[in-house]
Amino acid sequence: MWSKDSFVVKELNAFEDYLRDKYKPGNSFLNGVSQKIIFSGGKRLRPALVIISGMMGDYDRSKIFPLAAAIETLHTATLIHDDIIDDAKTRRGQITTSEKHGINIAIYTGDYLLANSILLLAESGLAMKEVDRLAKAVKMICTGEVSQYLNRYKLTSVSGYLKRIMKKTGILFSASCAIGSYASNCDLKHVRTMARIGMNIGIAFQIRDDLLDVEINDKEAEKIGKPIANDIKNGIITLPFIYSAKRSEKVKQSIEKLFEVSDELNIRECENEALTNKKGINVNKVDNDNIRQIINDVIKSGGVDDAKALKNRYIQKTRNLLDTLPQITDETKQALEEVLNWL
Ligand code: IPE
Ligand code: IPE
Ligand code: MG
Ligand code: MG
Repeated sequence: MWSKDSFVVKELNAFEDYLRDKYKPGNSFLNGVSQKIIFSGGKRLRPALVIISGMMGDYDRSKIFPLAAAIETLHTATLIHDDIIDDAKTRRGQITTSEKHGINIAIYTGDYLLANSILLLAESGLAMKEVDRLAKAVKMICTGEVSQYLNRYKLTSVSGYLKRIMKKTGILFSASCAIGSYASNCDLKHVRTMARIGMNIGIAFQIRDDLLDVEINDKEAEKIGKPIANDIKNGIITLPFIYSAKRSEKVKQSIEKLFEVSDELNIRECENEALTNKKGINVNKVDNDNIRQIINDVIKSGGVDDAKALKNRYIQKTRNLLDTLPQITDETKQALEEVLNWL
């Protein structure tokens, strides 16, 4: 994503050394599990945004690195818990914490990382007002993830989807940009605009992630290292499916049928009963061929194109905001452009 000689690469390398120092192999089990997941190949996107935002003001590594580490640690904690909820077996090409050590250890590892994140925040000396911003972001992530969970097996509207992804993903991108620029003494108008920029990037990022779920094949999925089509299998509807259901009655009905069967399977599995539902539909297992067929129909009906168009609108909104940023520089603008081009 980054051009070779960019300041982001240099700072991200130094940040990695800082993080290594914070997550040294220790003698505790949780320390070892945390270290493994922290260095399992994340893209470090949120730290990069903290760094770029920090570069717009009085950049100081001793403030910016602990903040970037706090946010990356927080992000990692949410991923561990997310993989429990999503029943995901792989993440970043490796077996998930919950799959390897069981759900109980995964819950504690997430909590342990959350505590680590607070320690890093304390090290950064971030003003309480901005700590408040981050705490509210964490509350929102929980709200977003839980509302998604409670609304499984339901068709959502585009606006319902957007509200959900703003909470579960957008808010941490927003906080990364706002806090980075705040910690570098940028003025408040600038910080507010950075918060909006981060939110728009986060929305486009999640749409991109949801597009990958339907667009890539098994081989490409291996490279990314997490399961594909996992959301739809778990009854979670994402943007390409929502748009497609609006365009095509056939797709809408097949999603409804899939969700009806999967929901039934889910209940039966919980109750450990025979796998046949009330209407006599055989619900032996999630039918991968059926899901593949639905995905093909989603692509054919234009659901993917619509989702890409909405993603591009958020990218464009970000570009427009960049032009209004009081303290942007050529090199920070270039770095944000690199993010936007990657999305
Ligand atoms: C994954 O985030 C979770 C989503 C919000 C889609 P990233 O794709 O940034 O995860 P890593 O840190 O690079 O693995
Ligand atoms: C990621 O959400 C978790 C959070 C945003 C907290 P998803 O479940 O959509 O992302 P992946 O695909 O597992 O990374
Ligand atoms: Mg999830
Ligand atoms: Mg997930």
